[in-house]
Amino acid sequence: MKNILVTGGAGFIGSNFIKYVLSNFDHKVINFDKLTYAGNLENLADIESDERYKFVKGDICEKKEVEKAVEENNIDTIVNFAAESHVDRSILGAKEFINTNVMGTHVLLEVLKEKKLEKYLQVSTDEVYGSLPEDKKELLFTEKTPVTTNSPYSASKASADLLCNAFYHTFNLPILITRCSNNYGPYQFPEKLIPLMIAKTLNGEKLPVYGDGKNVRDWLYVDDHCSAIMEVLNKGRIGEVYNIGGNNEWYNIDIVKLILKKLGKGEDMIQYVKDRPGHDRRYAIDSSKIMNELGWSPKYDFETGIETTVKWYLENESWWRKVMSGEYQKYFESNYANKLI
Ligand SMILES: NC(=O)c1ccc[n+]([C@@H]2O[C@H](COP(=O)([O-])OP(=O)(O)OC[C@H]3O[C@@H](n4cnc5c(N)ncnc54)[C@H](O)[C@@H]3O)[C@@H](O)[C@H]2O)c1
Repeated sequence: MKNILVTGGAGFIGSNFIKYVLSNFDHKVINFDKLTYAGNLENLADIESDERYKFVKGDICEKKEVEKAVEENNIDTIVNFAAESHVDRSILGAKEFINTNVMGTHVLLEVLKEKKLEKYLQVSTDEVYGSLPEDKKELLFTEKTPVTTNSPYSASKASADLLCNAFYHTFNLPILITRCSNNYGPYQFPEKLIPLMIAKTLNGEKLPVYGDGKNVRDWLYVDDHCSAIMEVLNKGRIGEVYNIGGNNEWYNIDIVKLILKKLGKGEDMIQYVKDRPGHDRRYAIDSSKIMNELGWSPKYDFETGIETTVKWYLENESWWRKVMSGEYQKYFESNYANKLI
């Protein structure tokens, strides 16, 4: 049984990960989250009474807060999801991205070193590899692809990865890195492509698509990312990077058209808008290392995953409406403010 500090556990992937761990393992999970605009404790409402789960409000940039959470909960493992995660926001202002994604990761690594914890897993992204040419379909990101970043977001994630690598080599610490492609599924903040397009369609608004819509992304259902992280945590070789992908490349415009079709709406709702500056053209992941070495493979095909996801947003309209109106931020006040120890 492990005592895992999941940082950023109130966000999209973190909250799905906590539920995945509690359903499939007998570990204790401490959710350590600052509750930025992206943190939503309502994501975890159905498991918050589980005795193996606890929430601690804290900032990974504050060393004392991290140390206290680690000491008081006998933490042996850290899985770091905490980050500023939206590329568009990093273009508007990079400071918070450098603070949380780089400085915050540094704090966690110092705590790992000082407290001699058993394991640390850094949840990274395929965006650290830059962009692939659209016309060379045979080219995929492998773990050996050089890190080449084009957005402040990807630069901050790559910097964190480099720090992890340095702390592994210099101090011989038990560090692992995973680099995953685009996730989709329940509880994703509706600023990201799939939930944004679903919400806009249901609201009868125009669907904004960057540039010519021909940017290519690889998509993985969030539960498959969670299972991959647990495989790497349990069986991965210390000091290694593991790519995680769905072998599932889509043009953005085709994802948008698919959502419209699933919701019974026409393509006239699409509105092309000025492209994102520095927009990477294509990401595609080679996951053969994690598949061959650790025996991981995704369980969800895209058809099932997208069907489940669209259904979830249809059935949980109050969840995303509260997120979009900002009302979700009251959940912490009403459910936790008097309960924290
Ligand atoms: N979403 C994807 O498709 C994707 C793909 C690959 C990798 N990743 C990585 O996975 C991780 C999680 O992504 P997500 O989409 O769930 O992000 P998210 O934006 O939904 O959630 C981020 C969480 O981190 C918390 N947080 C932010 N700053 C913090 C701080 N200083 N201290 C403590 N908590 C803080 C937020 O409150 C939020 O709960 C990120 O590191 C991201 O880079 C995401």
